Amino acid sequence: MKNPDIRNILGLVPETELDALRADAEYSNALLHTSEGAGSDFLGWVGLPSSITPEFLADIRATADGLRSLAVVVVVIGIGGSYLGTKAVLEALGNPFAALERERRDPVILFAGHTISEDYMAALMRAVEGRSLASVVISKSGTTTEPAIAFRIVKQEIERRYGAAGAAERIVAITDARRGALKSVADGAGYKTFVIPDNVGGRFSVLTPVGLLPLAVAGIDIDAFVTGAQTMETATAAGVPFAHNPAAIYAAARYALYRKGYKIELLAAYEPGLQYFAEWWKQLYGESEGKEGKGIFPAGVVFSTDLHSMGQYIQEGERTLFETVISVAESHNSVTIERAANDGDGLNFLAGRSIGEVNRMAELGTMLAHVDGGVPNIRIEIQRIDAASLGELVYFFEKACGISGYLLGVNPFDQPGVEAYKRNMFALLEKPGYEEATAEIKKHLG
Ligand code: PA5
Repeated sequence: MKNPDIRNILGLVPETELDALRADAEYSNALLHTSEGAGSDFLGWVGLPSSITPEFLADIRATADGLRSLAVVVVVIGIGGSYLGTKAVLEALGNPFAALERERRDPVILFAGHTISEDYMAALMRAVEGRSLASVVISKSGTTTEPAIAFRIVKQEIERRYGAAGAAERIVAITDARRGALKSVADGAGYKTFVIPDNVGGRFSVLTPVGLLPLAVAGIDIDAFVTGAQTMETATAAGVPFAHNPAAIYAAARYALYRKGYKIELLAAYEPGLQYFAEWWKQLYGESEGKEGKGIFPAGVVFSTDLHSMGQYIQEGERTLFETVISVAESHNSVTIERAANDGDGLNFLAGRSIGEVNRMAELGTMLAHVDGGVPNIRIEIQRIDAASLGELVYFFEKACGISGYLLGVNPFDQPGVEAYKRNMFALLEKPGYEEATAEIKKHLG
């Protein structure tokens, strides 16, 4: 990955303002390494890539191979940070038409527990009928309602089919080392478990078993993924000067834009496979920065698709948006537009050129149009989408998020605001222990 290209913010943010942030960004990066900033109990992700040992990866692979040998469908259960990283990498690296493959080498990964939709769950249970089944259940707290409900249903189905002993071979739990209902259930039933370290928050956990095990089950090269993250760990290490630290540059650029009134960041990609990468990134930045009445609102777009729906607003709506583009230099495949004898569609001017070239010109043209329209642009270029570049991007965005949160003056590692809906939901469902809240909410509803 190259350093972020921030030339297209400079018309809107004077270079002197960015220069003034250099020292703060370097200091914020240092705080992540000295554990002297807010939320320092949750900095386990900072040195995580380089701490991953070959033995640990071998254990992950062996466990994944066990599930792969037993099941053609593996249901991965989790929500938020316990699912989005895996989903992002799978969507980016998977075949979008896998459903039509005649012979599958890898199990199908289905996600559950990220929604409480009854129809989704019913459809999932119908889909697994008659297919060998296993599950990876992931919850750091071990108490989150959405995955707990999904796990109860999937676990009962696995036990019904394979008995308790069979279930113990087919279910792997990833949770806290000691606490939570999932830990007790897993220990009681004798499931293989992996630990989410105490000092790694959910949204920073994709390089722990949370992401690595399901990705290995899906056949992703987790060694390359980790190696990519290690490369970025080195590139953004403590003491790397601002000009060479891609995470510090990105964090400072977006903070400078925020101070100028650019309150919405669009993460844009020209590859549909990166759509869920934006979902992962949205959680990372939204949950880390959106607090105390502050924070850039993170949104995701896939171009050129969304230029035909959101393009008008981006070009001419409120001038509070800036764009961060993940630009992919090379496609894996080549599709060439051929000359047609009858140029009825008027496309012969493109004859002999690849669709990738057209996509790159769409990207360049869009960037110029948006910058001219008052939308600053940060460009992050990767050579191609593969496990290593995704590992780099994951760690890059995590590191930049930590720096960015400190620049903003918030604790980027807590999420007090996510409790409010849970309290209301439990009160409405009359969960034991919520009697007072139930009475209160009933009065409120009248
Ligand atoms: O980043 C976070 O902390 C959250 O989004 C969690 O990942 C999410 O709420 C799921 O929590 P848990 O893994 O405890 O079930």
